[in-house]
Amino acid sequence: MDYETHYLNVGDRNVRSMMRWWATYSRYGDEVRANGMAGYLIYWYRALSDRIDQRTLTAAPRMLRIVLATSALGSVFLLGTWAALAWLATTGRVALPVAATAVVAVQTTLAALSQFVIHGAAMFHTSLYLADMRSFLDLAHERAPQRGELTIPERVDEIHLDEVVYQYPGKDEPAVAGASLSLRRGEILAIVGENGSGKSTLAKLITGILLANKGRVLWDGVDLAQADPDAVWKRTAVVPQGFACWPLRTRENITLGQPKTFHDGPVWDVVDAVGMREAIEKLPQQLDTLLAKELWGGAELSGGQWQRLVCGRALYRQTPLLILDEPTSQMDARGEHAIFLEIKRIAAERMTIVVTHQLENTRLADRVLVMDKGRVVEHGRYEDLVNAGGLFAELVSLAKDR
Ligand SMILES: Nc1ncnc2c1ncn2[C@@H]1O[C@H](COP(=O)(O)OP(=O)(O)OP(=O)(O)O)[C@@H](O)[C@H]1O
Ligand SMILES: [Mg+2]
Repeated sequence: MDYETHYLNVGDRNVRSMMRWWATYSRYGDEVRANGMAGYLIYWYRALSDRIDQRTLTAAPRMLRIVLATSALGSVFLLGTWAALAWLATTGRVALPVAATAVVAVQTTLAALSQFVIHGAAMFHTSLYLADMRSFLDLAHERAPQRGELTIPERVDEIHLDEVVYQYPGKDEPAVAGASLSLRRGEILAIVGENGSGKSTLAKLITGILLANKGRVLWDGVDLAQADPDAVWKRTAVVPQGFACWPLRTRENITLGQPKTFHDGPVWDVVDAVGMREAIEKLPQQLDTLLAKELWGGAELSGGQWQRLVCGRALYRQTPLLILDEPTSQMDARGEHAIFLEIKRIAAERMTIVVTHQLENTRLADRVLVMDKGRVVEHGRYEDLVNAGGLFAELVSLAKDR
């Protein structure tokens, strides 16, 4: 019954703990207060809690009846045992020392029996959850994309996409609907397009985070669907659109996922490249400062400073493929300039993809890819596209007309 009630409540419990996190996380506190969301969040929290309590209470009478009935039955048997023993002893049918031994024996058996029942019940209870876990793992195994074991060369010279299609599960239309492109070592490719046109999805397909439903993504001829994902991700550095601000030290926020270094030289090089030296030197313990305001002794960075640090994290990896998905959306002009200068400086050694809404930034790219509704609608150099009278030219003129 405990499992049944838990099973009914598990959805609400999960949503409730998620809501508790969103409602109380300090990073969102300003928005919750200043947008007057507290009442709404509390209403939801109470509604979910009431629903959970209601289910628990509904199950309570049945639980009580079962407990009462089994306890009563147990008591009757126990009473019968003691009464029989007393009767045997008082009528002289068994000797007193034997009766006393019987009392001890009954007590010992009772203790052992209840341990047996308690552990048996716990095992049964746990096995129900284990069965759930097993069926979940089977489902996950069934749904997870099947990948291969092929390895990727250390030095990747070309990535080729051949009519790649990807549709998110449960969606009616593909997010990427047949995109083809080639990217060679030393090139910078800019991807632009309106919100929801499939830029981030395309970036995820190029890095093999998502596998194409149709078409192929080839890294030096190796199809990502057949490649070992770790071999692919060892060669990629990504600044995702929604990046993580890890509650770790400044140093670890840059070196994350990399082998430990014993001197900070390369870390400071990256810090300089993203123009963060001054800001980090002002932190109470520089690279050792914990970047988590919610923890004792932690410091906090501004939105743009975080973004610079995350760009530093990707640059630190020095991989053959660098993907930056709107890396400068929160940065000031100086930060943006520094990042793009650095991208240009290191471009010869790798393939670089920049997704951006700042169309002027695409001047530095060797080629610009314009996406619309999951398709590549234009493709070329900045100067050519701006005069082509297509979507890119329209977006550039809209940006200037603000
Ligand atoms: N995880 C997801 N699950 C389901 N649908 C998704 C998911 N991520 C994106 N989509 C859908 O796929 C489409 C393309 O999204 P995508 O994030 O690639 O757009 P984008 O071009 O990067 O947009 P933006 O400029 O806003 O970053 C959108 O219609 C979006 O709703
Ligand atoms: Mg995006």
